[in-house]
Amino acid sequence: MTQHTKAEVILQVKDVALTYDRPILRDINLSIRNIVRPGFSQGQVVTLIGRSGIGKTQLFKILSGLQAPTSGQVTIHGNQPVKAGDMGVIFQNYYLFEWRTVYQSLMLAAKKNKVLAGMEKQTIEQYAHQFQLTGHLILYPRQLSGGQRQRVSIMQQLLKGSNFILLDEPFSGLDVCMLDKAVELLLQVSLSDELKTLIIVSHDIETSVAISDTVFILGTEPNKAGATIKKEIDLIERDLAWQKNIKQERRFLETLEEIKADL
Ligand SMILES: Nc1ncnc2c1ncn2[C@@H]1O[C@H](COP(=O)(O)OP(=O)(O)OP(=O)(O)O)[C@@H](O)[C@H]1O
Ligand SMILES: [Mg+2]
Repeated sequence: MTQHTKAEVILQVKDVALTYDRPILRDINLSIRNIVRPGFSQGQVVTLIGRSGIGKTQLFKILSGLQAPTSGQVTIHGNQPVKAGDMGVIFQNYYLFEWRTVYQSLMLAAKKNKVLAGMEKQTIEQYAHQFQLTGHLILYPRQLSGGQRQRVSIMQQLLKGSNFILLDEPFSGLDVCMLDKAVELLLQVSLSDELKTLIIVSHDIETSVAISDTVFILGTEPNKAGATIKKEIDLIERDLAWQKNIKQERRFLETLEEIKADL
């Protein structure tokens, strides 16, 4: 197992439930700890996996502070209740400012990040190059493809620099080549800061397991209404975290099978 320790809790979900006309989520309890890895500034990459319609996006909104649960609470940085704006949020539908060019939107995001002061333009150009969007900076969102909108949306949140970045289905709609690039970039971001935490909501099991240190499975249990966390898988313990080229390895494939059986 790669040497590491799990230090303080940086995000905690306690007894969260969400009910509309019927229970959607119940008894959601989970915590994310700061992973300390000697010699690395290692951030956290956590994935929430579940079937379509199970309640991932609802939990995503609760985690981001954009929606209040029916009961229970989410706290970050010790014991602070999470509030809207605390986290960088990348929605499933890639909301963008339609009346601003890509560059203007990205500049607005970069200006919010004090760490980038004086280096906003340079950083935007660097990201744009990495994401193959250099020629698109002068365009408006309506002139972009779905995959391009998604990349702009990811860049926007990366530029803002919040410690927590929530991504709802970041891998859908990307072609194989862009998928590898997105994974690479997210890993790079997670390594950029000890406290940087990516929370990915996805039904792409293979990509999620390959990128994460921890997987939470959201699913239902017999005779109980509403979805809950059925299992937490520590990929570090299984020696599956922080390794490239594990997709062919047996223990990786076995973990995928285990997750599928739990969905
Ligand atoms: N405002 C609402 N009122 C009532 N039910 C809702 C509301 N919003 C969502 N739901 C229900 O909550 C459930 C979970 O929806 P959610 O969008 O979280 O699913 P999901 O896991 O993200 O699915 P997908 O993978 O398809 O994105 C769905 O059954 C949906 O019908
Ligand atoms: Mg969803």
